[in-house]
Amino acid sequence: MSADGFSKAPPPGARADWTIDQGWEAYTPAEHQVWITLYARQAATLEGRACDPFLKGLEALDLHRSGIPDFVRINAELNRLTGWSVVAVPGLVPDEVFFDHLANRRFPAGQFIRKPEQLDYLQEPDIFHDVFGHVPMLTDPVFADYMQAYGRGGQRAMQRGQLANLARLYWYTVEFGLLQTPQGARIYGAGIVSSRAESVFALEDPSPNRLAFDLERVMRTPYRIDDFQQVYFVVPSLKALLEATLQDFAPIYDRLAEASDIPIDAILPSDRVITAGTQAYAHGKAAAQ
Ligand code: PHE
Ligand code: FE
Repeated sequence: MSADGFSKAPPPGARADWTIDQGWEAYTPAEHQVWITLYARQAATLEGRACDPFLKGLEALDLHRSGIPDFVRINAELNRLTGWSVVAVPGLVPDEVFFDHLANRRFPAGQFIRKPEQLDYLQEPDIFHDVFGHVPMLTDPVFADYMQAYGRGGQRAMQRGQLANLARLYWYTVEFGLLQTPQGARIYGAGIVSSRAESVFALEDPSPNRLAFDLERVMRTPYRIDDFQQVYFVVPSLKALLEATLQDFAPIYDRLAEASDIPIDAILPSDRVITAGTQAYAHGKAAAQ
């Protein structure tokens, strides 16, 4: 532990809380063009697929103005709407640093943008994933409260050694969550909205299971970091998601410590099934290896 309470020292040039200056003036025209290209692709794909709070957030922050957004500009509006702000970091930050930012309504976003040959996929979260993917939902007051609560919950889960369970909740909501609407399921997860192929796959492909969200069930379900998800969880509303997490997780963690993981493609008798997937995509990939 260092003096600020964080276990790992920040990289050279970063502050104790791992933030850096965005350095907006230093982005090159080619880097801005990557944003513009990705933005145009996703805006077209997400019409009728992303949920209204996401699309409203995109508009409110004017994220398509002229390339990579300047955090000073978007923070003025984001702060006014929900009290959140975006801070720049060099890349992934340690868990406790991440939770501390969220608990204080700051979203740490990668400062760099992917290369033109990485438009479809890159492993590390860049500014397009972090800002286009995550920040629009932070303009929604309910989701804004959920993310802050998650930061506090992360600090508690770490103390209990049950971060693996809580991380699944983040994965299946913040990153890969779907929202039920009168028009059908819509996307709110940042990992989906920032991927052209998964935006279609998550909603329309017959392969994955789509199940009604159940907090404890989600926390028992492993996830894949290397490919499209095999299961998506659908929340009835953002409010219901927030409310499910307001309870004290201590009794849940006690039960989870004794419970086994649920296989990633399983459908349980207790699941409320929205779509029973064929798993053809995942099986096809496995067979090809
Ligand atoms: N209620 C959770 C706890 O007691 C905290 C939490 C809130 C976790 C929101 C995730 C999301 O730990
Ligand atoms: Fe993310």
